[in-house]
Amino acid sequence: MDTVAKNLIIEKAEASKISKVNFDHLPFGAYFTDHMFICDYRNGAWETPKIIPYQPLQMEPSSRVFHYGQAVFEGMKAYRDDEGGVWLFRPDENYRRINKSSVRLAMPEFPEEYFFDGLKKLLQIDEKWIKPGVGNSLYIRPFVIASQAGIIASPSEEYKFIIICSPAQSYYGGDVRVKIAEKYSRAADGGFGFTKAAGNYAGQFYPTNLAKEEGFQQVVWTDASTHEYIEEAGTMNIFIRLDDKLITCPTGDRILDGITRKSIIDLAKDRGIEVEVRPIKVSELVEGIKNHSLKEMFGSGTAAVINPILGFGYKEERYELPKIENSYASTLKQQLMDIQYNKTEDKFGWRYKVM
Ligand code: COI
Repeated sequence: MDTVAKNLIIEKAEASKISKVNFDHLPFGAYFTDHMFICDYRNGAWETPKIIPYQPLQMEPSSRVFHYGQAVFEGMKAYRDDEGGVWLFRPDENYRRINKSSVRLAMPEFPEEYFFDGLKKLLQIDEKWIKPGVGNSLYIRPFVIASQAGIIASPSEEYKFIIICSPAQSYYGGDVRVKIAEKYSRAADGGFGFTKAAGNYAGQFYPTNLAKEEGFQQVVWTDASTHEYIEEAGTMNIFIRLDDKLITCPTGDRILDGITRKSIIDLAKDRGIEVEVRPIKVSELVEGIKNHSLKEMFGSGTAAVINPILGFGYKEERYELPKIENSYASTLKQQLMDIQYNKTEDKFGWRYKVM
């Protein structure tokens, strides 16, 4: 055992809540496991991390996070294989990205050993919450918040790094039809659209509510300056298939460098599918429907994995995608989940064994 794991303070819950949870009906993110990981940053350093029973936080109402939104998070999953083993998928990418998000919001980076030792120990302690069966997983939510009291608009000097875990099935239950944004934007050049900052999600809720009133489930975000190019689909990255070519937009200041996104690109190329990473015009989607070259659209993300988009709305018109057999969405999702659930060879070295 290395130093961090030895120093990690562990306080176990007196009783487990697990018997109160119906694992056959799990609304996304509604239930949490018995324990949480927590580590405070004070006086320029991260203090000894702890695993404690899942519980409310006590914070000053003036804590910076409540006023200036210094908050970033990650989404990961733990999977149980048929032999009882527990795996993570590319956790090094989540670790790298939460620090990248933190740096952009003037927050301190979190040490690698704390992250991995803390997460592994937390999963071992709450392992009975990780149910077998493809589709079942434990959604892991690491996050960092500014906890210093005082409402001066400057970066906090105190933070909390916390990991909570929630048993999960699928994220978007039903059909997904999207509204293509014509007025609202999610991100701009020089901004922080590439981070998993809480504010990137808060800004989506209102336009998404408007889209829901029109019968759509999500908004496809377009570039802030012209609204001519698609960028992300709700909380997911977006892919389209034109004839047999798979296309997704490049990441950058405005688009999240999604781990599922980049895995899909690699898997598709490995299957011999032609993949293009380039800006995608809204007009290509409309044209593609009209000339039947637009075969598929789907979103990708940790929570949703791959979610087919069945249709979209743009400038008062509604467009439906064709129903197709052996879609890229279903083939690639299957291939990805086979790797995540340790059902197949992992030639890219993406799986990470927890126990
Ligand atoms: C994820 O896919 O993990 C996300 O971060 C989306 C989240 C808003 C549920």
